[in-house]
Amino acid sequence: MTPPPFRIARLAKHDRSGFRCGSEALDRYFRTQASQDIRKRVTSCHVALDAATHQVAGFYTLSAADIPLTELPSELAGKVPRYPTLPVARVGRLAVDERYRGRKIGSVLLFDAVQRAAGSEVAVFAVVVDAKDATAEAFYRHHGFTAYGSAPGLLIAPIKQLLGS
Ligand SMILES: CC(C)(COP(=O)(O)OP(=O)(O)OC[C@H]1O[C@@H](n2cnc3c(N)ncnc32)[C@H](O)[C@@H]1OP(=O)(O)O)[C@@H](O)C(=O)NCCC(=O)NCCS
Repeated sequence: MTPPPFRIARLAKHDRSGFRCGSEALDRYFRTQASQDIRKRVTSCHVALDAATHQVAGFYTLSAADIPLTELPSELAGKVPRYPTLPVARVGRLAVDERYRGRKIGSVLLFDAVQRAAGSEVAVFAVVVDAKDATAEAFYRHHGFTAYGSAPGLLIAPIKQLLGS
């Protein structure tokens, strides 16, 4: 049987120096800031590793967050308890190296984040993302996310919807 071409692991001492996703801000965060944020327990970070070369092909960060009930789109607000704020998981950053685009790595990383959020003992009802531009927003909308709140680029999808359960 052919082994899968990529595996997902927690970010550790992986070489990130050559990672390029097309956004200087995301590259810089991944190279210089992510490990510090992990140590301070403000995020977790997982990477997709090329099984053949061990290169980092992509990464995402995942943190706990909450959002005000009043910011939910009406179709979602009707399905949750009327608490002032609701617990969610935030995919703060997600990026795929330009050399690995279009091979479903972005989708696999997003789904991995959703599964980890769903499996956590810290309950969250939805995943939120902060799309940095129109391209990123289109990627998340393609995966079923819809806008919430008043700031541009904020998107949400309930975990039940994302997992089809
Ligand atoms: C957006 C990004 C993560 C996509 O990664 P990728 O691995 O190339 O995407 P995938 O191969 O997983 O795409 C899977 C599906 O999403 C679709 N898709 C990918 N990018 C898309 C986009 N910008 N808009 C709409 N759909 C998109 C693909 O057509 C594909 O659809 P299919 O499954 O129906 O065939 C990647 O382009 C990237 O890292 N961009 C720069 C950083 C960024 O914008 N991050 C977003 C959050 S800040």
